[in-house]
Amino acid sequence: MDEFSPLQTEDGSLTLIHPRFNEAYSSRHGAWMQANALYLNLTQTHLHPSPRVLEIGFGLGVNFRATLASAVERRVWLEYLSYELFPVSRDVLEAIRVPLPGEAEAVWRGLLATWPDVPTVTPYLFQGDWGRLEIRFEDVTRGDFPNDWATAIYLDPFSPQVNPEPWSLQVLHKLYQAALPGAFLATYSVAGTVRRRLTQAGFAVQRVAGVGKRQWLRAVRSAPGVLPG
Ligand SMILES: C[S@@+](CC[C@H](N)C(=O)[O-])C[C@H]1O[C@@H](n2cnc3c(N)ncnc32)[C@H](O)[C@@H]1O
Repeated sequence: MDEFSPLQTEDGSLTLIHPRFNEAYSSRHGAWMQANALYLNLTQTHLHPSPRVLEIGFGLGVNFRATLASAVERRVWLEYLSYELFPVSRDVLEAIRVPLPGEAEAVWRGLLATWPDVPTVTPYLFQGDWGRLEIRFEDVTRGDFPNDWATAIYLDPFSPQVNPEPWSLQVLHKLYQAALPGAFLATYSVAGTVRRRLTQAGFAVQRVAGVGKRQWLRAVRSAPGVLPG
């Protein structure tokens, strides 16, 4: 934990500054807010009857927990596949508390109990009557994603300035292939290069109003014959 600097975000939830990237894991305007408003809701995962989420950057598991809480509350089966090249320890995960309802908190406690002491054996699998989580402790640039699989993509590496590899056209192409037609991708970065590469990869890209930040990005893999609105 010592290597990270804690940062209290505006909604009261805690995040950390990564020493190597010198950036926060989540928005300073609210880590829990961003997980819910940007990743869960903007991709419409909060409404999906059988969500399958592909995430780039498991980090502190905040997006996972927001998605888990929604799925558990709605009693829908969740499948969550995440990539994480620099996994944190159990102590770090445990230190980052978010306001989870009881049942989802119990699932999260189960994850903490089974989190590997040295998180290098990949993949880490965790499942229960709520669904299934798979974390591949790998470099996403080498990742081999399932095709036509994801109902939602959470594109959440550190920023393209300090962590450019996961934002490469090659990765975005693979994300496009991994998405089901009609699936939404959400990300906090509205950088021109990100928008252009997502478009080149095949997504229809839209800037939307952000919370605490002027804009966020939503992209869709269009269903055949459907023009994105
Ligand atoms: C902004 S944080 C993700 C926050 C996370 N989604 C959450 O809910 O807590 C970015 C994450 O991407 C990971 N990352 C950076 N480069 C990566 C790569 N090439 N492959 C896989 N993960 C990477 C970092 O280690 C970090 O945990």
